[in-house]
Amino acid sequence: MIVRARAWFLGGLLVSAAACGGGEDEGVTPPAQTGGRSGSNGVAGTAGAGGTGAAGSPSAAGTAGAAGTAGSTAGAAGLAGIGGLAGAAGLAGMAGAGGAGAAGTGGASAGAAGAGCVDPLALAPTDTPAAKLSETGLYADIAKREIHARARYFQPRYPLWSDGVEKQRWIYYSACSKIDTQDQDHWSFPVGTRLWKEFKKGGKLLETRLIHRYGAGPDDFTFVSYQWRADQSDADLAEHSGVQNVLGTDHDIPGGAQCQNCHSKLPEHVLGFGAIQLSHQLAGETMKSLSEAGRLTVPSPGGFSIPGGALASAAVGYLHSNCGNCHNDTGIGVAMRLRALTTDKQPSEVGAIATTVGVPAEMFSAPGITALVQPGVPDASAVWFRMSHRNDATLQSVQMPPIGTEIVDPQGVALVRDWILSMGGAAGGGGAAGAGGTSGAGGVGGSAGKGG
Ligand code: HEC
Ligand code: HEC
Repeated sequence: MIVRARAWFLGGLLVSAAACGGGEDEGVTPPAQTGGRSGSNGVAGTAGAGGTGAAGSPSAAGTAGAAGTAGSTAGAAGLAGIGGLAGAAGLAGMAGAGGAGAAGTGGASAGAAGAGCVDPLALAPTDTPAAKLSETGLYADIAKREIHARARYFQPRYPLWSDGVEKQRWIYYSACSKIDTQDQDHWSFPVGTRLWKEFKKGGKLLETRLIHRYGAGPDDFTFVSYQWRADQSDADLAEHSGVQNVLGTDHDIPGGAQCQNCHSKLPEHVLGFGAIQLSHQLAGETMKSLSEAGRLTVPSPGGFSIPGGALASAAVGYLHSNCGNCHNDTGIGVAMRLRALTTDKQPSEVGAIATTVGVPAEMFSAPGITALVQPGVPDASAVWFRMSHRNDATLQSVQMPPIGTEIVDPQGVALVRDWILSMGGAAGGGGAAGAGGTSGAGGVGGSAGKGG
């Protein structure tokens, strides 16, 4: 993983001298401004220490920063080479910063060229979606299924259940920018960021979704999907209203309003690329790789974990991903919080426990349901009941999530069931109902004890 991360970072430098200190990407802001911002960036500070402060122009100084950082992660030898390239490209400050020897020249040429950070793999932001997937920047060669070097693979630790369809995901954001992670629970993605998610069933590609931040406004995001052609040669922009039964399967492409319904209740709009979701050791980008490569404004290589024993944290993580995009503090007008936060340090602070265990449903009612989570009794728990049903003629508007799925997730249902069972102890879970809020904490203690 570390190797991948370095490859990314160095890749940017080698080709482009691009891993600059910060600022906006892709010409959204003029170079001079970019330089200024870079300079004030946290990484640039490191850079200064790297000893290229001499570089002169603000833009050179800014870029120097990144190189300094690279030096510390990547090693002097690699950077020397990079220095040469960067100098030739006239991009420099960063080149300069990298190799002690080259510094002066690099800085000077950068200043002369007036160049800010440039990412040659950049994609210009646009609010007009491309007509074909092959034009969105994901592929270097779509026929060979060759993913472009700019697109980085990632996996969320807690995936959304999508009726058993296989999914793969990638992200691109300019090597000249970082994700603002000051608030670890609500990352702010740089303008130009693109994320793709591919859906495949039985070896057949069905759709690839794209989220693209095209502007600095809080809602300057496009959500579109590309439907794969039957011959699998490319995928075409899908109807905004969605597509039923893609390529003869039972898989549906959601309409644009559904994308928004799930993705636009949190300011970040992005749901699987965040602090909790990337705190793992799976393949692809992780908190560690991004932190080490200098791609986050607040690096956190150790990541974040959901408090509680293995069973509790897995169940809470599941609810975080599958439910938390709507059930959070700003999402919908229901007090239940199923979104996990990095600031939850004790099980009793976890929303999926504090706001559910022994708490009666605000609006929902069904025979036999006594609480959102009834310790020890999944069947009396609204959370479990609603996730283990799908709407049909007799159960209207019961299913959760309300959209994006037609099949119950057998593993998810079993996981949450086990978790609720574990809270009840051996017997008489139902009796605990009266205990209310505190009973919640007690229940968790029980589950942790069991795990240990
Ligand atoms: C039922 C809720 C839901 C709907 C509807 C939905 N998404 Fe998502 N989407 C998620 C969740 C949750 C994740 C993160 C977990 C995962 O990928 O497994 C995600 C992930 C993604 C990703 C990867 C980046 C990220 O946010 O992690 C893309 C791209 C994406 N969705 C695009 C779309 C588009 C475009 C639509 C509409 C065509 C759409 N989604 C509809 C819930 C939804
Ligand atoms: C796309 C948004 C969305 C997602 C995702 C979602 N919900 Fe909901 N949920 C709602 C809305 C809206 C309501 C209120 C209307 C209703 O009860 O149907 C609600 C209500 C509920 C209630 C009743 C709360 C109360 O106090 O009355 C429960 C329980 C619930 N959801 C469970 C879940 C679970 C469990 C998941 C994940 C497996 C989930 N929801 C995912 C939108 C969502």
